[in-house]
Amino acid sequence: MTDLSSPIKTMKLYTHVERVERELAAQGLNQGPLATEDLVAMDQLHYGGVAVVDEAIEQLGLQSGDHVLDVGAGLGGPARHIAKKVGCAITAVELQSDLNTLAQQLTERCQLGDQITHQCGDILDTPLPSQSFDALVSWLTVLHIPDRDALFSRCHEAIKTGGQIYIEDFCAQQVLSREVKDQLAEDVFCHYLPSSAQYEQDLLAAGFVSIEMENMSPDWTKFVSMRLAKFQAGADEFVARHGEPTYRALHHFYRSIVRLFDSGAIGGLRIQAVAAR
Ligand SMILES: C[S@@+](CC[C@H](N)C(=O)[O-])C[C@H]1O[C@@H](n2cnc3c(N)ncnc32)[C@H](O)[C@@H]1O
Repeated sequence: MTDLSSPIKTMKLYTHVERVERELAAQGLNQGPLATEDLVAMDQLHYGGVAVVDEAIEQLGLQSGDHVLDVGAGLGGPARHIAKKVGCAITAVELQSDLNTLAQQLTERCQLGDQITHQCGDILDTPLPSQSFDALVSWLTVLHIPDRDALFSRCHEAIKTGGQIYIEDFCAQQVLSREVKDQLAEDVFCHYLPSSAQYEQDLLAAGFVSIEMENMSPDWTKFVSMRLAKFQAGADEFVARHGEPTYRALHHFYRSIVRLFDSGAIGGLRIQAVAAR
């Protein structure tokens, strides 16, 4: 059951989580083993689906003996894809208990429970071993965490010297208006959004080097617009399956993200860096 009292639930992507189980039931997959491919339409809460997770696997050169930290694992989609494809171990940290519980159940059903440890907690204070992860991945999570000094120090402390991080996240492309700030806070639970230059400085200050940033804004602007169009085109079927309130909530969220990208105020970054000591 979704706990709507949590402040992050103003972001409507995180409400009506039961839609995942309903969708699986509609496909006759309400129980028993699952393949990770059965879930890709609903468990990748970022832009570009598993194709971008494959790019991360390749860029990081992940190997079966590695231990990867996934920060803000959501429903566990990226973690399962990496575990299945690479054969490595993953610790998947997720703040929201309803998402974490569902992620864990889906991982068990995909028979990946031996490789993935789902850990419910805030990345800022959940217990993590020191200097023990070979790599860190994170999709669209940093935007939720204003205290970048604490966050990047934590990430730096968790990974081995020479370990790499791979982050996809929002950045500000101009000075943000009050209206955009309010929209980010309410619809995206994002209370602080720096420029790419500030992002880089914060990573350097935490001890990361060889920082590479790729501007994802054009790709993401197209992706979110297509996502909204596809969602609207399937409205009748979606409402019949999940009901009007769930449709309205997700429609509000998808449309808000399109407005943010179309305004040019926010953009997207793909970031790679190495932990130095
Ligand atoms: C947009 S979702 C992306 C989920 C997943 N990375 C994916 O791409 O499918 C971001 C996730 O980060 C989680 N999150 C936000 N703040 C967090 C924190 N402080 N510690 C751990 N997880 C956090 C949210 O609960 C949410 O599930």
